[in-house]
Amino acid sequence: MLAKIEQLLQEIDGLKADSAEQLEALRIKYLSKKGAINDLMADFRHVPAEQKKAVGMKLNELKNRAQERIAALKEAFENQDTTADEMDLTRTAYPVALGTRHPLSIVRNEIINIFSRLGFTIADGPEVEDDWHVFSSMNFPEDHPARDMQDTFFIESHPDILLRTHTSSVQSRVMEVSQPPIRVICPGRVYRNEAISYRAHCFFHQVEGLYIDKNVSFTDLKQVLLQFAREMFGPETKIRLRPSYFPFTEPSAEMDISCDICGGKGCPFCKYTGWVEILGCGMVDPAVLEANGIDSSVYTGYAFGMGVERITNLKYKVKDLRMFSENDTRFLKEFESAN
Ligand code: PHE
Repeated sequence: MLAKIEQLLQEIDGLKADSAEQLEALRIKYLSKKGAINDLMADFRHVPAEQKKAVGMKLNELKNRAQERIAALKEAFENQDTTADEMDLTRTAYPVALGTRHPLSIVRNEIINIFSRLGFTIADGPEVEDDWHVFSSMNFPEDHPARDMQDTFFIESHPDILLRTHTSSVQSRVMEVSQPPIRVICPGRVYRNEAISYRAHCFFHQVEGLYIDKNVSFTDLKQVLLQFAREMFGPETKIRLRPSYFPFTEPSAEMDISCDICGGKGCPFCKYTGWVEILGCGMVDPAVLEANGIDSSVYTGYAFGMGVERITNLKYKVKDLRMFSENDTRFLKEFESAN
């Protein structure tokens, strides 16, 4: 009998229950009227008189231990609805809301994708630049207004160091370390000293492109830009090139696309012209090639540059470009379904 009690004591110390049902089954097995302990109690009368005291004490101990153990398991259940074994300690305390991609990132990625498929690779460069890479190497005359304090943020103690006003500086950096064929796009943030309004900000984003090789012509430029416009704004999109001026390209042009709201018929969005401007472009001025170590008697090239905010405005009809940097999650959430 003592051996049986000892065995039950050990069993009880190791009891575990994963659910309320299992706990109830244990209670029935050990503590109910027909349970193991009551069976022993019933046998107690057969215990020889001289052993009754010792066996009685052990039996009481067994009953108490069983009751305590089952009460403790029950308490553990009531304090938490899962047992420690089932808890996933790696889970965060509450669900983390997934963020959404910023509209400018969505559009920048799309621009990059289109030009990547056309064989352009991505080049990167510093936002804090020197005068050479932003202006001089790009054929800006000494007295060009863009160098003026009103347009460019200069570092006060170092008049030669400034925040880049366009990513053409990256094109210059690519040319100084490589020889044609060169086919790169330069996405990045640029800075201009403008009063902040719904249509201007002191920083914005550009993607500029550069292609230099033998026999590159204006036709190549036009065809690549037409392809880009159709992929970005739809296969029906038309383009139009208007003569323009940039110090680093000759000839230069600005490109319009047919207004995708009215399809070119004329509406308030395109100010009844049927066209909206999206980028600047041109053939790289031979002076720029020479300044950057490329032989202009052998090579020709084209360049183009567009504002990501501008393209995003057109694609998503965002009228106030301050929205892009206000971090208003209600605005950002509107782009949840875009990629
Ligand atoms: N760098 C010009 C700008 O910032 C854009 C551009 C690039 C125009 C290349 C023509 C050719 O406005």
